[in-house]
Amino acid sequence: MSKTSDWQGFYASEAKSYDARRYGGRYGAAFRKAHRDALHAVLQRSTASLAIDVGSGTGQCIPPLIATHEFTVACDLTHAMLMHSPARGDQCVSQVQSNAFALPFCDSVADTVTSSRFLHLFSREDHDALLREMQRVAKPNAVIVVDYYNATARKMLAPLIALYRLLFRRLPEHDTRYSIAEAKEIALRHGFRVDGVALIGTYLATPFLFLPIGARVRCMQALNRLSPQFCDQFLLILRKS
Ligand SMILES: C[S@@+](CC[C@H](N)C(=O)[O-])C[C@H]1O[C@@H](n2cnc3c(N)ncnc32)[C@H](O)[C@@H]1O
Repeated sequence: MSKTSDWQGFYASEAKSYDARRYGGRYGAAFRKAHRDALHAVLQRSTASLAIDVGSGTGQCIPPLIATHEFTVACDLTHAMLMHSPARGDQCVSQVQSNAFALPFCDSVADTVTSSRFLHLFSREDHDALLREMQRVAKPNAVIVVDYYNATARKMLAPLIALYRLLFRRLPEHDTRYSIAEAKEIALRHGFRVDGVALIGTYLATPFLFLPIGARVRCMQALNRLSPQFCDQFLLILRKS
């Protein structure tokens, strides 16, 4: 299978139920809010005109991008995923069905490039090619925010996560995972500066999922401060040199 078609069929049939499955549950809803809040906090530090969201799907990154940029382009290979995005109908957003391995932009155009729940879908070799493509379209000193599943926590919590997925009937995962140190090292090797890391979600919060959403998010944040090694995902906040 070519790189462009690897995931298209899967996400075309997944699109309708994607948000409900990933962000509909008590953990998923808190994760969604924590991720958007963290992205917003990073992006509001600077005023910027153009953002490109890669593998945008149903638009997890779109609300914080709209709030902090004059214009946002949501790129995704799968038309059906884009159809379910809040980007649809927003005057400040364009949706472009496109392949992240060959983004339809000139070099150095974007102030900000984001992707979420995207790079983990690919092999390490493809990951590097995707990072280079994001780097190509970013302006010098642009902010690039990417996220990763935390390999360290997954190893330590493997039995607990398996039980959670069984109980809540979550789909099996086929993710490429990285530790924070490893992801930073890769980014530095690509010539990025690492501006920061934000920890998102933690399965240690499972006993607290009965709390209202604001409290659930604060609980996740507190647990991540106490036990960073157990975070579910992390954002790398990069700068193009
Ligand atoms: C797990 S979803 C993530 C969606 C959204 N960013 C989020 O955080 O919920 C992965 C997305 O990547 C898209 N995708 C897969 N391969 C792609 C490629 N080569 N180029 C662009 N998008 C791709 C899929 O269509 C899907 O919408």
